[in-house]
Amino acid sequence: MSDLLHDAADRSIAYLDSLPDRRVSPSAEAVAALAALNIDLPNAPTNPGTVLQRLDDIVSPATMAMAGGRFFGFVIGGALPATVAASWLATAWDQNTGLYNTTPGTAVVEEVALRWLVDILGLPAGTAGGFVTGTTVAHITALATARHVVLEKVGWNVEADGLIGAPPITVITSAEAHPTLYKALGVVGLGRNRVVKVPVDSQGRMRAGAMPRVDGPTIVCVQAGNVNTGAFDPTGEICDYAHDAGAFVHVDGAFGLWARASKDLEHLGEGIERADSWATDAHKWLNVPYDSGVAFVRDGDALRAAMAVTAEYLPTRSERRNPSDYTPELSRRARGVEVWAAMLALGRDGVDEMVARHCRQARRFAERLTAAGFEILNEVVLNQVLVAFGDAERTARVISAIQGDGTCWAGITVWQGRTAMRISVISWMTTDEDVERSADAMIRVASATI
Ligand SMILES: Cc1ncc(COP(=O)(O)O)c(C=O)c1O
Repeated sequence: MSDLLHDAADRSIAYLDSLPDRRVSPSAEAVAALAALNIDLPNAPTNPGTVLQRLDDIVSPATMAMAGGRFFGFVIGGALPATVAASWLATAWDQNTGLYNTTPGTAVVEEVALRWLVDILGLPAGTAGGFVTGTTVAHITALATARHVVLEKVGWNVEADGLIGAPPITVITSAEAHPTLYKALGVVGLGRNRVVKVPVDSQGRMRAGAMPRVDGPTIVCVQAGNVNTGAFDPTGEICDYAHDAGAFVHVDGAFGLWARASKDLEHLGEGIERADSWATDAHKWLNVPYDSGVAFVRDGDALRAAMAVTAEYLPTRSERRNPSDYTPELSRRARGVEVWAAMLALGRDGVDEMVARHCRQARRFAERLTAAGFEILNEVVLNQVLVAFGDAERTARVISAIQGDGTCWAGITVWQGRTAMRISVISWMTTDEDVERSADAMIRVASATI
């Protein structure tokens, strides 16, 4: 075990050390070499050292350098050193973090991490929550709770009796809601298509004035951080309107919720604390390893009513918080350990500095690309930059050439009918030098592409 784990550490360190100099996207040769994995399962065992060596030799070169400082795709972060190290230790502990009685250590770490998160994100004191795989599952968790709350008000027990025959629930979203929200609505039986969509403005913000009349059991879903523009829905205004009519308000804050951790940016999320539930990712702006999302719910009793499980063989009876009372899963890894490690390593000031730095770096990208004659399609209010290099065909060709060049990586999107490259600055590793080097490459490649 000892030699093997030292070997794993050496290989991991060599990989991370190679990131500043290696190309961001894997080469075509490295991807082609993955064919070597495609063997039939051997009958005989393989030495664990050989297993690790094969993984490193074949797969490491074929990875996208998402852990590095010049990957700007998908609004995902890297993994801070303290979180990689904490993750290794927690993997060695192998704690099935469902019940306080059997895994008190990780249960308490998660309790503390949750309290710190509620504090740093400016959510109401006492807000409950659970550590899940990502925002998609955080939506499922929160929407299952929302379903419980709005149906309980009309005398229906959805956990016991399901949705068949239940009073109908109206779901209101913005026309710009993220696709995973619809997926979650489908999973919890509220339907992907039975949704009232509120129109948005030029930045993708819900128009509060266009909200429909709210009547009967209703769930309103708003967004803090549009996946293209980074814009925020006017959440405070929508909460006031929805709450007056007894509705439940859920916030998709997959990355945007983290703006509340920065003094310079907290104005963007004005009123978010007045909502009833929130979904976010720690594997985005907090820069912890995958998979790490968090579901927050103001009413902890309602979250427990939707999620708790008991069985004779489970030691669930405890005065302390049982993590599995707050998540869809019973068995799971202690993913809150990395969240705790990130916050302790950065401190309140470190999180503030990181989020603010990324937004400053996004503005620098916009400045450089504008000065080079390219068009920025969004108001750069957060860490998102949308750039068009001419018409749709030319923009797509330039994006493909930038990805192929290997200096950096950013993805393609369509924003209100315009094809654009989407730059998301969100990795702890991104230095100002990475930004200049990446902007140089983008401008060089775009200028050379017909
Ligand atoms: C606004 C928004 N909502 C939801 C999600 C889904 O998050 P996850 O992939 O962690 O499930 C994302 C991911 O990019 C997002 O940006």
